[in-house]
Amino acid sequence: MTVPLTLCKLIVKHRVKFDTLSLFHVFLRHVNFIIMMRIEREDSAVNRIRIRGGSKVEAQALERKAEMNRELKERLFQLKKERNAIILAHYYQRDEIQEVADFRGDSFLLAQKAASTDAETIVFCGVHFMGESAKILAPNKTVLIPDERAGCPMADMVNVDGLRKLKAQHPNAKVVTYINSSAEIKAETDICCTSSNAVKVINSVDADEIIWVPDKNLGHYVQQHTDKKLIIWEGYCNTHDMLTVKDVVEMKAKHPGAEFVVHPECRAEVVAMGDFVGSTTAILDYCKNSSAKEFIVGTEDGTGYQLRKDSPDKEFHFATKFLVCPNMKVNNLKKLIKCLETMQPQIYVPPAVADKARASLERMLQVK
Ligand code: 13P
Ligand code: SF4
Repeated sequence: MTVPLTLCKLIVKHRVKFDTLSLFHVFLRHVNFIIMMRIEREDSAVNRIRIRGGSKVEAQALERKAEMNRELKERLFQLKKERNAIILAHYYQRDEIQEVADFRGDSFLLAQKAASTDAETIVFCGVHFMGESAKILAPNKTVLIPDERAGCPMADMVNVDGLRKLKAQHPNAKVVTYINSSAEIKAETDICCTSSNAVKVINSVDADEIIWVPDKNLGHYVQQHTDKKLIIWEGYCNTHDMLTVKDVVEMKAKHPGAEFVVHPECRAEVVAMGDFVGSTTAILDYCKNSSAKEFIVGTEDGTGYQLRKDSPDKEFHFATKFLVCPNMKVNNLKKLIKCLETMQPQIYVPPAVADKARASLERMLQVK
Protein backbone atom coordinates (compact mmCIF):
# COMPACT_ATOMS: atom_id res chain seq x y z
CA MET A 1 0.00 0.00 0.00
CA THR A 2 2.79 2.43 0.89
CA VAL A 3 4.47 2.05 -2.52
CA PRO A 4 1.56 3.38 -4.67
CA LEU A 5 0.71 6.00 -2.02
CA THR A 6 4.18 7.46 -1.82
CA LEU A 7 4.46 7.18 -5.58
CA CYS A 8 1.32 9.33 -5.97
CA LYS A 9 2.68 11.86 -3.45
CA LEU A 10 5.95 12.07 -5.39
CA ILE A 11 4.07 12.63 -8.65
CA VAL A 12 1.96 15.41 -7.13
CA LYS A 13 4.94 16.99 -5.33
CA HIS A 14 7.15 17.08 -8.40
CA ARG A 15 4.25 17.77 -10.82
CA VAL A 16 5.45 14.94 -13.03
CA LYS A 17 3.72 14.75 -16.43
CA PHE A 18 1.70 11.59 -16.82
CA ASP A 19 3.61 10.19 -19.75
CA THR A 20 4.81 6.63 -19.41
CA LEU A 21 8.50 7.49 -19.35
CA SER A 22 8.26 9.98 -16.50
CA LEU A 23 6.07 7.58 -14.57
CA PHE A 24 8.55 4.78 -15.10
CA HIS A 25 11.37 7.05 -14.00
CA VAL A 26 9.60 7.99 -10.76
CA PHE A 27 8.82 4.32 -10.18
CA LEU A 28 12.51 3.39 -10.62
CA ARG A 29 13.61 6.09 -8.20
CA HIS A 30 11.08 4.83 -5.73
CA VAL A 31 12.27 1.25 -5.99
CA ASN A 32 15.85 2.42 -5.62
CA PHE A 33 14.90 4.42 -2.54
CA ILE A 34 13.17 1.43 -0.92
CA ILE A 35 16.23 -0.72 -1.55
CA MET A 36 18.43 2.03 -0.07
CA MET A 37 16.27 2.13 3.08
CA ARG A 38 16.37 -1.66 3.46
CA ILE A 39 20.14 -1.66 3.09
CA GLU A 40 20.38 1.11 5.66
CA ARG A 41 18.53 -1.18 8.08
CA GLU A 42 21.02 -3.98 7.64
CA ASP A 43 23.81 -1.54 8.39
CA SER A 44 26.70 -2.66 10.55
CA ALA A 45 26.37 -3.07 14.31
CA VAL A 46 28.25 0.17 14.89
CA ASN A 47 25.82 2.29 12.94
CA ARG A 48 22.79 0.63 14.49
CA ILE A 49 23.49 2.31 17.84
CA ARG A 50 20.93 5.13 17.83
CA ILE A 51 21.89 8.36 19.48
CA ARG A 52 18.85 9.62 21.39
CA GLY A 53 18.15 11.54 24.58
CA GLY A 54 20.03 14.28 26.40
CA SER A 55 23.69 15.11 26.25
CA LYS A 56 24.78 12.51 28.86
CA VAL A 57 23.01 9.65 27.06
CA GLU A 58 24.33 10.99 23.80
CA ALA A 59 27.91 11.04 25.08
CA GLN A 60 27.59 7.45 26.38
CA ALA A 61 26.17 6.25 23.06
CA LEU A 62 28.96 7.96 21.16
CA GLU A 63 31.54 6.38 23.47
CA ARG A 64 29.97 2.93 22.93
CA LYS A 65 29.98 3.48 19.20
CA ALA A 66 33.64 4.48 19.22
CA GLU A 67 34.52 1.48 21.40
CA MET A 68 32.74 -0.97 19.06
CA ASN A 69 34.45 0.62 16.10
CA ARG A 70 37.84 0.17 17.78
CA GLU A 71 37.09 -3.48 18.56
CA LEU A 72 35.92 -4.20 15.01
CA LYS A 73 38.99 -2.55 13.53
CA GLU A 74 41.34 -4.47 15.84
CA ARG A 75 39.65 -7.74 14.85
CA LEU A 76 39.97 -6.79 11.19
CA PHE A 77 43.69 -6.00 11.41
CA GLN A 78 44.35 -9.29 13.21
CA LEU A 79 42.43 -11.24 10.53
CA LYS A 80 44.20 -9.40 7.73
CA LYS A 81 47.55 -10.56 9.14
CA GLU A 82 46.38 -14.15 9.65
CA ARG A 83 45.00 -14.40 6.10
CA ASN A 84 47.78 -12.39 4.44
CA ALA A 85 45.02 -10.26 2.98
CA ILE A 86 44.75 -6.95 1.22
CA ILE A 87 41.57 -4.85 1.27
CA LEU A 88 40.65 -3.03 -1.92
CA ALA A 89 37.75 -0.58 -1.72
CA HIS A 90 35.98 1.25 -4.51
CA TYR A 91 35.26 4.95 -3.99
CA TYR A 92 31.50 4.16 -3.90
CA GLN A 93 31.78 2.01 -0.74
CA ARG A 94 30.48 3.08 2.66
CA ASP A 95 32.84 5.37 4.61
CA GLU A 96 33.42 2.66 7.26
CA ILE A 97 34.91 0.43 4.55
CA GLN A 98 36.94 3.11 2.78
CA GLU A 99 38.42 4.01 6.18
CA VAL A 100 39.98 0.57 6.71
CA ALA A 101 41.00 -0.21 3.12
CA ASP A 102 44.62 -0.68 2.09
CA PHE A 103 43.77 0.94 -1.23
CA ARG A 104 40.82 3.07 -2.26
CA GLY A 105 40.37 3.59 -5.95
CA ASP A 106 38.33 3.46 -9.12
CA SER A 107 37.81 0.25 -11.05
CA PHE A 108 41.01 0.79 -13.08
CA LEU A 109 43.36 1.41 -10.15
CA LEU A 110 41.88 -1.50 -8.18
CA ALA A 111 42.29 -3.86 -11.15
CA GLN A 112 45.96 -2.79 -11.34
CA LYS A 113 46.39 -3.40 -7.60
CA ALA A 114 44.79 -6.85 -7.85
CA ALA A 115 47.12 -7.76 -10.72
CA SER A 116 50.26 -6.69 -8.85
CA THR A 117 49.69 -7.60 -5.17
CA ASP A 118 51.81 -10.14 -3.27
CA ALA A 119 49.02 -10.82 -0.76
CA GLU A 120 47.44 -14.30 -0.85
CA THR A 121 43.92 -13.03 -0.27
CA ILE A 122 42.19 -10.09 -1.91
CA VAL A 123 39.06 -8.76 -0.27
CA PHE A 124 37.28 -6.79 -2.96
CA CYS A 125 34.90 -4.24 -1.48
CA GLY A 126 32.98 -3.24 -4.55
CA VAL A 127 30.53 -5.01 -6.85
CA HIS A 128 30.75 -8.49 -8.33
CA PHE A 129 32.27 -7.63 -11.73
CA MET A 130 35.14 -5.88 -9.92
CA GLY A 131 35.84 -8.97 -7.80
CA GLU A 132 35.66 -11.08 -10.95
CA SER A 133 38.19 -8.86 -12.72
CA ALA A 134 40.51 -9.24 -9.72
CA LYS A 135 40.15 -13.04 -9.82
CA ILE A 136 40.77 -13.11 -13.59
CA LEU A 137 43.92 -11.00 -13.21
CA ALA A 138 45.13 -12.90 -10.13
CA PRO A 139 43.87 -16.49 -10.69
CA ASN A 140 46.01 -18.03 -7.96
CA LYS A 141 44.75 -15.74 -5.22
CA THR A 142 41.65 -16.14 -3.11
CA VAL A 143 39.27 -13.29 -3.91
CA LEU A 144 36.54 -12.54 -1.37
CA ILE A 145 33.63 -10.12 -1.56
CA PRO A 146 31.84 -9.14 1.70
CA ASP A 147 28.34 -9.64 0.24
CA GLU A 148 27.83 -11.61 -2.95
CA ARG A 149 24.54 -9.83 -3.65
CA ALA A 150 26.58 -6.78 -4.70
CA GLY A 151 25.90 -6.97 -8.42
CA CYS A 152 25.82 -4.30 -11.11
CA PRO A 153 22.50 -3.94 -12.97
CA MET A 154 24.31 -2.41 -15.95
CA ALA A 155 26.62 -5.42 -16.25
CA ASP A 156 23.51 -7.64 -16.38
CA MET A 157 22.06 -5.69 -19.31
CA VAL A 158 24.25 -7.38 -21.91
CA ASN A 159 24.17 -11.09 -22.74
CA VAL A 160 26.50 -13.34 -24.71
CA ASP A 161 23.93 -14.34 -27.38
CA GLY A 162 23.07 -10.73 -28.15
CA LEU A 163 26.72 -9.73 -28.34
CA ARG A 164 27.53 -12.66 -30.66
CA LYS A 165 24.68 -11.64 -32.97
CA LEU A 166 26.03 -8.09 -33.13
CA LYS A 167 29.52 -9.40 -33.90
CA ALA A 168 28.11 -11.50 -36.74
CA GLN A 169 26.34 -8.41 -38.16
CA HIS A 170 29.58 -6.36 -38.00
CA PRO A 171 32.41 -8.77 -38.83
CA ASN A 172 35.01 -6.00 -39.23
CA ALA A 173 34.27 -4.34 -35.92
CA LYS A 174 36.31 -4.84 -32.74
CA VAL A 175 34.55 -5.23 -29.40
CA VAL A 176 35.41 -2.73 -26.67
CA THR A 177 33.73 -3.59 -23.36
CA TYR A 178 33.34 -1.40 -20.33
CA ILE A 179 34.80 -3.23 -17.31
CA ASN A 180 31.26 -3.11 -15.82
CA SER A 181 30.43 -6.47 -17.44
CA SER A 182 30.51 -10.18 -16.65
CA ALA A 183 33.50 -12.47 -17.20
CA GLU A 184 31.55 -14.22 -20.02
CA ILE A 185 31.15 -10.92 -21.89
CA LYS A 186 34.81 -10.05 -21.34
CA ALA A 187 35.67 -13.43 -22.86
CA GLU A 188 33.89 -12.26 -26.07
CA THR A 189 35.77 -8.96 -26.06
CA ASP A 190 38.86 -7.63 -27.84
CA ILE A 191 39.75 -5.07 -25.19
CA CYS A 192 38.21 -3.77 -21.96
CA CYS A 193 38.21 -0.20 -20.68
CA THR A 194 37.03 1.80 -17.69
CA SER A 195 35.51 5.26 -17.63
CA SER A 196 38.98 6.71 -16.94
CA ASN A 197 40.60 5.33 -20.11
CA ALA A 198 37.67 4.69 -22.51
CA VAL A 199 38.69 7.27 -25.14
CA LYS A 200 42.35 6.24 -25.01
CA VAL A 201 41.44 2.55 -25.37
CA ILE A 202 39.04 3.14 -28.29
CA ASN A 203 41.62 5.23 -30.12
CA SER A 204 44.23 2.50 -29.60
CA VAL A 205 42.11 -0.12 -31.38
CA ASP A 206 43.08 -1.11 -34.90
CA ALA A 207 39.59 -0.89 -36.48
CA ASP A 208 37.29 1.87 -37.73
CA GLU A 209 34.16 0.27 -36.33
CA ILE A 210 33.72 -0.51 -32.64
CA ILE A 211 31.02 -2.54 -30.94
CA TRP A 212 30.61 -0.84 -27.58
CA VAL A 213 28.96 -2.60 -24.60
CA PRO A 214 27.10 -2.14 -22.30
CA ASP A 215 26.75 1.58 -21.33
CA LYS A 216 24.91 3.74 -23.89
CA ASN A 217 25.56 6.97 -21.96
CA LEU A 218 29.33 6.49 -21.74
CA GLY A 219 29.21 5.27 -25.36
CA HIS A 220 27.57 8.49 -26.58
CA TYR A 221 30.10 10.54 -24.60
CA VAL A 222 33.07 8.61 -26.03
CA GLN A 223 31.63 8.92 -29.56
CA GLN A 224 32.18 12.69 -29.31
CA HIS A 225 35.90 12.15 -28.69
CA THR A 226 36.79 9.70 -31.44
CA ASP A 227 36.57 9.44 -35.24
CA LYS A 228 35.74 5.75 -35.00
CA LYS A 229 32.14 4.64 -35.47
CA LEU A 230 30.62 3.18 -32.33
CA ILE A 231 27.81 0.62 -32.46
CA ILE A 232 26.32 1.21 -29.03
CA TRP A 233 24.54 -1.30 -26.78
CA GLU A 234 21.50 0.05 -24.93
CA GLY A 235 22.57 -0.58 -21.30
CA TYR A 236 22.84 2.05 -18.58
CA CYS A 237 23.62 2.54 -14.90
CA ASN A 238 20.40 2.72 -12.85
CA THR A 239 22.02 5.15 -10.43
CA HIS A 240 23.69 7.68 -12.76
CA ASP A 241 20.93 7.51 -15.38
CA MET A 242 18.40 8.69 -12.80
CA LEU A 243 19.92 12.16 -12.58
CA THR A 244 17.80 14.58 -14.64
CA VAL A 245 18.26 18.06 -16.11
CA LYS A 246 15.55 19.27 -13.70
CA ASP A 247 17.56 17.99 -10.70
CA VAL A 248 20.64 19.88 -11.87
CA VAL A 249 18.73 23.07 -12.67
CA GLU A 250 17.23 23.02 -9.16
CA MET A 251 20.62 22.44 -7.51
CA LYS A 252 22.25 25.18 -9.56
CA ALA A 253 19.52 27.58 -8.44
CA LYS A 254 20.21 26.62 -4.80
CA HIS A 255 23.99 26.89 -5.19
CA PRO A 256 24.62 29.43 -7.94
CA GLY A 257 28.36 29.67 -7.26
CA ALA A 258 29.01 25.92 -7.43
CA GLU A 259 30.67 24.07 -10.31
CA PHE A 260 28.81 21.03 -11.65
CA VAL A 261 31.05 17.97 -12.04
CA VAL A 262 29.52 14.94 -13.72
CA HIS A 263 30.28 11.30 -14.59
CA PRO A 264 29.74 10.28 -18.24
CA GLU A 265 27.47 7.42 -17.10
CA CYS A 266 24.80 10.13 -16.73
CA ARG A 267 22.41 10.97 -19.58
CA ALA A 268 23.83 13.00 -22.49
CA GLU A 269 21.66 16.05 -21.71
CA VAL A 270 22.89 16.04 -18.08
CA VAL A 271 26.53 15.53 -19.12
CA ALA A 272 26.14 18.53 -21.47
CA MET A 273 25.47 20.72 -18.40
CA GLY A 274 28.77 19.79 -16.73
CA ASP A 275 31.45 22.36 -15.95
CA PHE A 276 33.65 19.28 -15.80
CA VAL A 277 32.97 15.78 -17.18
CA GLY A 278 35.11 12.84 -16.11
CA SER A 279 35.47 9.43 -14.53
CA THR A 280 35.33 8.97 -10.77
CA THR A 281 39.06 9.58 -10.37
CA ALA A 282 39.03 12.49 -12.82
CA ILE A 283 36.24 14.14 -10.78
CA LEU A 284 38.18 13.63 -7.54
CA ASP A 285 41.35 15.11 -9.07
CA TYR A 286 39.48 18.01 -10.60
CA CYS A 287 37.75 19.01 -7.35
CA LYS A 288 41.01 18.71 -5.39
CA ASN A 289 42.92 20.95 -7.78
CA SER A 290 40.20 23.43 -8.74
CA SER A 291 40.22 26.89 -7.20
CA ALA A 292 36.42 26.67 -6.83
CA LYS A 293 35.13 26.22 -3.28
CA GLU A 294 31.72 24.65 -3.95
CA PHE A 295 30.65 21.77 -6.19
CA ILE A 296 27.48 20.01 -7.29
CA VAL A 297 28.48 16.39 -7.71
CA GLY A 298 26.92 14.22 -10.41
CA THR A 299 28.21 10.83 -9.38
CA GLU A 300 27.72 8.24 -6.63
CA ASP A 301 27.61 9.63 -3.10
CA GLY A 302 30.37 7.36 -1.74
CA THR A 303 32.85 9.70 -3.46
CA GLY A 304 31.99 12.19 -0.70
CA TYR A 305 34.45 10.37 1.57
CA GLN A 306 37.47 11.07 -0.65
CA LEU A 307 36.25 14.51 -1.77
CA ARG A 308 35.96 15.73 1.83
CA LYS A 309 39.22 14.09 2.85
CA ASP A 310 41.07 15.81 -0.02
CA SER A 311 39.42 19.21 0.49
CA PRO A 312 37.97 19.70 3.98
CA ASP A 313 37.59 23.41 3.25
CA LYS A 314 35.31 22.89 0.21
CA GLU A 315 31.58 22.20 0.00
CA PHE A 316 30.14 19.26 -1.93
CA HIS A 317 26.43 18.92 -2.73
CA PHE A 318 25.27 15.71 -4.37
CA ALA A 319 22.98 16.56 -7.26
CA THR A 320 20.18 14.39 -5.78
CA LYS A 321 19.79 12.10 -2.79
CA PHE A 322 19.20 9.28 -5.29
CA LEU A 323 22.82 9.16 -6.41
CA VAL A 324 23.39 6.04 -4.34
CA CYS A 325 24.26 2.64 -5.81
CA PRO A 326 22.37 0.20 -3.55
CA ASN A 327 24.62 -2.64 -4.68
CA MET A 328 27.78 -0.87 -3.57
CA LYS A 329 26.22 -0.25 -0.18
CA VAL A 330 25.34 -3.85 0.71
CA ASN A 331 28.92 -4.30 1.89
CA ASN A 332 29.67 -3.09 5.41
CA LEU A 333 32.39 -3.40 8.06
CA LYS A 334 30.74 -6.32 9.85
CA LYS A 335 30.42 -8.33 6.64
CA LEU A 336 33.99 -7.47 5.71
CA ILE A 337 35.21 -9.00 8.98
CA LYS A 338 32.93 -12.02 8.60
CA CYS A 339 34.17 -12.82 5.11
CA LEU A 340 37.75 -12.89 6.40
CA GLU A 341 36.73 -15.12 9.30
CA THR A 342 34.90 -17.65 7.11
CA MET A 343 36.88 -17.05 3.88
CA GLN A 344 33.48 -16.88 2.14
CA PRO A 345 31.95 -15.85 -0.23
CA GLN A 346 34.74 -16.42 -2.74
CA ILE A 347 34.68 -15.28 -6.36
CA TYR A 348 34.91 -18.17 -8.81
CA VAL A 349 35.41 -17.82 -12.57
CA PRO A 350 35.57 -21.00 -14.69
CA PRO A 351 39.21 -21.22 -15.93
CA ALA A 352 38.26 -21.45 -19.64
CA VAL A 353 36.23 -18.22 -19.37
CA ALA A 354 38.90 -16.55 -17.22
CA ASP A 355 41.68 -17.30 -19.73
CA LYS A 356 39.78 -15.61 -22.57
CA ALA A 357 38.62 -12.70 -20.41
CA ARG A 358 42.15 -12.13 -19.07
CA ALA A 359 43.47 -11.26 -22.53
CA SER A 360 40.94 -8.42 -22.89
CA LEU A 361 41.78 -7.03 -19.43
CA GLU A 362 45.54 -7.32 -19.90
CA ARG A 363 45.32 -5.49 -23.23
CA MET A 364 43.59 -2.65 -21.38
CA LEU A 365 46.31 -2.52 -18.70
CA GLN A 366 48.93 -2.19 -21.44
CA VAL A 367 47.36 0.87 -23.09
CA LYS A 368 49.53 3.88 -22.27
P1 13P B 1 34.87 3.86 -12.17
O1 13P B 1 35.32 3.18 -13.45
O2 13P B 1 34.96 5.33 -12.28
O3 13P B 1 35.50 3.27 -11.00
O4 13P B 1 33.29 3.59 -12.05
C1 13P B 1 32.79 2.33 -11.82
C2 13P B 1 31.36 2.39 -11.74
O5 13P B 1 30.72 1.43 -11.39
C3 13P B 1 30.71 3.62 -12.12
O6 13P B 1 29.37 3.55 -11.89
FE1 SF4 C 1 26.85 -0.54 -11.62
FE2 SF4 C 1 25.97 1.97 -11.60
FE3 SF4 C 1 26.43 0.72 -9.31
FE4 SF4 C 1 28.44 1.47 -10.90
S1 SF4 C 1 27.04 2.79 -9.82
S2 SF4 C 1 28.21 -0.49 -9.86
S3 SF4 C 1 27.53 1.12 -12.92
S4 SF4 C 1 24.90 0.17 -10.84
